[in-house]
Amino acid sequence: MDRIVSLGARSYPLYIERGSLGALSPRVDLHRKVLLVTDDGVPEALVRTVLAQCPQGVLEVLPQGEGSKSFDAAQALCARMLRENFTRGDLALALGGGVIGDLTGFAASIYMRGIDYVGLPTTTLSQIDSSVGGKTAINFQGVKNIVGAFHQPRAVFLDADAFSTLPRRHFVNGLAEALKMGLILDPVILSLFEREDWESHVEEIVRRAVLAKADVVERDETEQGERRSLNFGHTIGHGIEAAAEMHGLLHGECVGLGMLYFIENEALRQRTLRILTRLGLPTRADVDPEKVYAALVHDKKGDGSGVRVVVVDAPGHYILRKMDYAALRARVFSGV
Ligand code: GLY
Repeated sequence: MDRIVSLGARSYPLYIERGSLGALSPRVDLHRKVLLVTDDGVPEALVRTVLAQCPQGVLEVLPQGEGSKSFDAAQALCARMLRENFTRGDLALALGGGVIGDLTGFAASIYMRGIDYVGLPTTTLSQIDSSVGGKTAINFQGVKNIVGAFHQPRAVFLDADAFSTLPRRHFVNGLAEALKMGLILDPVILSLFEREDWESHVEEIVRRAVLAKADVVERDETEQGERRSLNFGHTIGHGIEAAAEMHGLLHGECVGLGMLYFIENEALRQRTLRILTRLGLPTRADVDPEKVYAALVHDKKGDGSGVRVVVVDAPGHYILRKMDYAALRARVFSGV
């Protein structure tokens, strides 16, 4: 085990280890009813590997994509657990990317007022960001993550072998979140990305990013302060993501672009542009700024006078700042 996320009674281990998806037991008690939730994009071999370890396992395979972060899907999971007579002592496993983790965690948080779930993230995006920290959610009425709960997993298994079947675009997409961690907290990650052989350091990059995130979550589990720093790149990034729906930009790709607006240090911005280019991530958003601004205002849960933004002014250093809507709009129109 690499690390315990220390949250008192809600503490849990992170197993950052190749092959760990094939060795869940005895680290997790699988001798109970287990709902294995996955999607039709996850390789069948991986699903079989996990299901084979669950003597009382039942499988729910959802359609791949953001559409599964819905009340309908959460209801389907709860209905399945009810049909199978799941009790409070039973378990849900989330095998897949961020959508599966957020949805399964949410269903686990409401079924019988909360049952155990374990994160088995299979993408770079979900391993680096969403699987750790207990944020669970679905989208509702066009607003991302607006209904959800803090419900910490019982364990998270981070197995880099799962990346071997990820399409290249999805592989680098998630690494944008590691770049984010490098910019706000851990400049060593930036140096690793700058190496010619950065790909052979991906496990180290993921490990450093996840451990940095675990530190933040321990200090601010419910996002009262410091955890807001993890939203770096997401304010305008979410706006681009929504406005670019027709272009099909991925979340990490949008976060990568979103960060560029808030690096207030030209040398570091240029450095970040070089890393994005090296990873094959976009460095320009061909999206109407008016649409980006409209989408982010719709998406943000601001208090009416503005939103909190995260600014990076030096490698590994961020500032939380309140920005009024006029200044935010000007920032969106300034472009990257
Ligand atoms: N994805 C940001 C957070 O977990 O707080």
